[in-house]
Formats: sequence, structure tokens, C-alpha cells
Amino acid sequence: MRILGIETSCDETSAAVVEDGRILSNIVSSQIRLHRRFHGVVPELAARAHLQRISGVVEEALAKRRIDAVAFARGPGLMGPLLVGKMAALAAAESLQCPVVAVHHLEGHVFAAELAEKIGFPLVALIVSGGHTDLLLGRGPGRYRVLGRTRDDAAGEAYDKVARMLGLGYPGGPVIDRLSRQGDASSVHFTRPFMPGSWDFSFAGLKTAMLYHLRDLGRQPARREVADLCASFQEAVVETLVSKTLKAAEHFRVREVVVGGGVAANARLREVFQAEAQHRGLRVHIPPPILCTDNGAMLAQAAWHRLRRGKIGGSWRCDPGLPW
Ligand code: KG4
Ligand code: ZN
Repeated sequence: MRILGIETSCDETSAAVVEDGRILSNIVSSQIRLHRRFHGVVPELAARAHLQRISGVVEEALAKRRIDAVAFARGPGLMGPLLVGKMAALAAAESLQCPVVAVHHLEGHVFAAELAEKIGFPLVALIVSGGHTDLLLGRGPGRYRVLGRTRDDAAGEAYDKVARMLGLGYPGGPVIDRLSRQGDASSVHFTRPFMPGSWDFSFAGLKTAMLYHLRDLGRQPARREVADLCASFQEAVVETLVSKTLKAAEHFRVREVVVGGGVAANARLREVFQAEAQHRGLRVHIPPPILCTDNGAMLAQAAWHRLRRGKIGGSWRCDPGLPW
């Protein structure tokens, strides 16, 4: 079955064609440059840019192929951008005469891993991006329980805000990731926000700890110090994410772990996840970076599972805060 997946929930305009788990095309048009000077995604600008780009992106992904279904993300995400994706999906389905499947954006992130390698259920999934830090227990396709989520900032948001404090620009994740390789992660000890007794996360305290550290320093940190601060901050984030996720897998007696979202592109996070999982006899699946960030292929893959279960129905209403 060949499925067109359309993704517009945040700042990537993407369309992809996936056939029985194999990617035939995956076009991603990023709006990072548009939002850079605002240090974050501006919803109205994002919606307008999606509208300008979506037809070209869908056409390029389709490349005149025949398809059997169209999938789009109905939420969570930004309202204006989500509506653009839905309209594009309905228009494509009408002209190609095929059914439409509305997909939960986070289920898309879970199935992104399956586009790279075989995954198995039950699993624990960690979805970490600029908007999410969600820990899920998946009993099977379509059967999820939210174990925990962030109580304040998402992990990617913390990266972006800390990068701004250090004068490193937007988005903060890739630059902190890069600079950390030259820094000493033990130079500053930031308390790990483990939140014992809960599967929730909290990154606002870590961000404030960085702010106080810079204030107490009383001057601009030197280049070397910036790299040390990046590495120390990153180590606290990575240790928290990895330790809670693997602890959840052990607690619920699950052997499979999936990681997705923009922050899953982080080199140190990937390295520590793999090392720790091997140590504990768990299998961790982290897709290549292009499939970690938002993309249409992951939605097509999630839709494929729904179609195989005979579920084309369900609400098409876009919902920015769509619950599981
Ligand atoms: O999934 P995504 O592209 O968009 C949404 O937020 O939905 O994720 C973007 C977030 C940003 O906060 C960015 O700083 C972070 O992912 N990010 C990273 C890395 N690449 C992107 N964080 C840490 N390390 C990276 N290499
Ligand atoms: Zn996402």
C-alpha cells in the first residue's frame, strides 16, 4: 500500500510517499531561517510559509505516483499550520480519489523508528522535541499510555533558551551538541532533575541554574567556558532523559525502546542511550536525524498501521493540544 504523508504541525513543511514501510520520497522544507531572528517559531509566519510551500512539496513527493491513501497530522501542534496540512491532504485525496487518515503527530514519531529498522511491541517511547518531552508505554499500534511529560519546558526548548543565554543563536540544539564535543562535561555540576516517584520531566530549573551561573560569573564567558557550559548542561539533560526512559522500560518489563523528535538527533543522547541500553540488555531504536525531526514519512507509516487495522475513520478535526 502506497501512502502520501503530509506534515505541517510546526515549522517543517513535509510530504512523503511510503510503500509498505519503505520510503519512496520524503521532502522536508524547513522554516528555520524564517524564525531564527525571533528565537522561536512564530505561529502566523509558520502558517503562511506552509501555505506557500505545501503544493510544491506535495507535488515533488508524489512525482506523479499513484497512491492508495493520504495521511496528515491532526495534532498536537500549531493550529494554523495544522489546518494547512489538513486542507492539503483533503485536496490531494479528492483529486487522487483515495481515503484520508488523520494521525496523532506523536504516534508518527513512534513509527519513524520503523522506517529505519524493525521495532517490536510492547515498547517505551521517548519523544523529545522543541514542543514535547513525552514518555509513552506502547502496548501495540494505537494502544498507548502516557507515563509522563514535561511539567514546564520541553527538552528542546531548554536547549534553545540556554543557547540564547550563551549567545549561540537559534535553534540551540545543534550548536550546543557541536560545542559540547570540545567542552568538559564535569566542569560545572548542574543538578539532574530526576523527579523521583514520577515519570514526568522538568527542565525549567536547569535553565534557571544556567542563568544564575552566568549571573554569578558577572562577565561574558570565554569561548572555552562556553563549550564547558554547553557540555555540562547537555550531560544533565542527557542523563535525565536516558535514565528515566530506561528505568521505565525496566519497570514495565519492556525490552524495546524508541526515541524520536528533534532532540533525538543529539549525538551525545544517541551515544549514551545505546551504551546504557546494551548494558541493560534493552534494544533502543533511534532513527537517523532526518526521521527524528518532523517529516511526512512518519505519518504515512503510522497511517499504514491504522489502515491495516481497518481504521480509516476517526475525527479529522485539527486539535493543537490533541490528547492521546
Ligand atoms: O522535532 P523538531 O524539529 O520540531 C519540533 O519542536 O516539533 O525539534 C526541534 C527542537 C529544537 O528545540 C532544537 O533545538 C532541537 O530540537 N534539536 C536538538 C538537536 N537538533 C535539534 N537538540 C539537541 N541536539 C540536537 N542535535
Ligand atoms: Zn514533532
